[in-house]
Amino acid sequence: MIKYLLVLSVRFGNNVRATDVIIDLVLTKAKAYIDKEIVDCSLAINDGKIVKIGKEPNMPKAQAKIDLKHLLVLPGLMDVHVHLRDEGKAYKEDFYSGTAAAASGGITTVLDMPNNDPVTMSAETLRNRMKIAQEKVLVNVGFYSEFPKNMKEIKPIVEEGAVAFKLFMADQVGGLNIDDDNAVLEAFNTVSKLNVLVAVHAEDRTELKKAEEELKRANCNDISAFLRAHSEKVEVKAIKRITKIAKQASIHIHFCHVSTENGLKTIIDGKKSGMPITCEVTPHHLLLSADDFKRIGTLALTMPPIREKPHCAVLWNGIKNGWVDVLGSDHAPHTLQEKKLEIVWSVKVGVPNLETTIPLLLTQVKKGRLSIGDVVRLMAEKPAEIFNLKGRGSLKEGNCADITVVDLRRKFRVDASKFHSKAKYSPFDGWLVQGKPVKTFVNGRLIMDEGEIVANAGSGSIIRS
Ligand code: DOR
Ligand code: ZN
Ligand code: ZN
Repeated sequence: MIKYLLVLSVRFGNNVRATDVIIDLVLTKAKAYIDKEIVDCSLAINDGKIVKIGKEPNMPKAQAKIDLKHLLVLPGLMDVHVHLRDEGKAYKEDFYSGTAAAASGGITTVLDMPNNDPVTMSAETLRNRMKIAQEKVLVNVGFYSEFPKNMKEIKPIVEEGAVAFKLFMADQVGGLNIDDDNAVLEAFNTVSKLNVLVAVHAEDRTELKKAEEELKRANCNDISAFLRAHSEKVEVKAIKRITKIAKQASIHIHFCHVSTENGLKTIIDGKKSGMPITCEVTPHHLLLSADDFKRIGTLALTMPPIREKPHCAVLWNGIKNGWVDVLGSDHAPHTLQEKKLEIVWSVKVGVPNLETTIPLLLTQVKKGRLSIGDVVRLMAEKPAEIFNLKGRGSLKEGNCADITVVDLRRKFRVDASKFHSKAKYSPFDGWLVQGKPVKTFVNGRLIMDEGEIVANAGSGSIIRS
């Protein structure tokens, strides 16, 4: 297209009319969320970018036109907390099934967690993961890395394109000794020079293992024992410890899946002191409580676990008051066999959430608990800002054409058996929801249409920092 424009420019000087250029696609009759308002407009897309937003008669000629029938058009929603698995864990999920689930759920960009087989924690493991992903993904995918043992490997990992580092504190996953404050400080000091953030799973391993061993010795192996081990204290202790170390290194810390009242309170205190701290909550910690274990059992087990109801209310308040920055799904697929085990300590923790998150949030919009602006802030604007995802996060001329189209009137029941994810279970199975992603565009290409994947594997792109 650009070439065509250049030819015309040469022939007619600079007098090129918009009508002389044929661009890739025009989306008409959109109700688009732009600059905190919903406006009736059309969007012109070329070479993966939004090139014009305006009235339909002013749109350039396009090879294709799609009538959006006055549906709500949002900036492509992003999920910064996803375990796509693949490689040695492809039996749970792979890059194709995971990103198909994302597209189907109205998500245009995901950030992939590093607890894979092999663990993503070197330039080589990251390069290899990106190479495998490139052939299969349907949406944009960026990658976290765990910290390597040798601090000298941190820079090459960033140069390879890791979007952020992940620090998993509940157990030893990466190469960094999580029990050694000095080692953690050294790692933080190293990343502070490289301008990438550290996302933290805040559960203190020492505290957690001590409680777990005691419970095991007492032969307590059920869900209530798991809840006792993964206590509020375990979360708060880890948040306090990391905040203290981060202060010395002055780096940006992002706390994943905050789940307790005092956990959030500790983060708010850190924010109020002026530290660059951000945080995330998940749909399960907002919408489920410990009572739900009676109904759902071990399928609902996650780490950190869902809590007693008062904690949910505190998290909702955190959203309302702007303390919570991001909503991430923590999509963590496992097989049904891995989820349904008698001994709670053997159960694999995590739930698939890519296909439920947006409908669940839109249902809360319908109920008046959230606004569309909140959804866009928590799942597009803030993720783009925090993770430095340039050219994404809002509908704007010049930005990437990542677009989520939703039908707010559409009511349906969550049916996990129909998920694109390999994990065909959900704690939200059977829930009646209102608000459905009906079209997902990634870099200007239609990937999902009415629940169906309409693009080829590899249509998505790899995001490098
Ligand atoms: O519930 C969880 N599942 N929490 C984690 O921290 C890990 C994740 C997984 O990878 O399954
Ligand atoms: Zn986690
Ligand atoms: Zn996770």
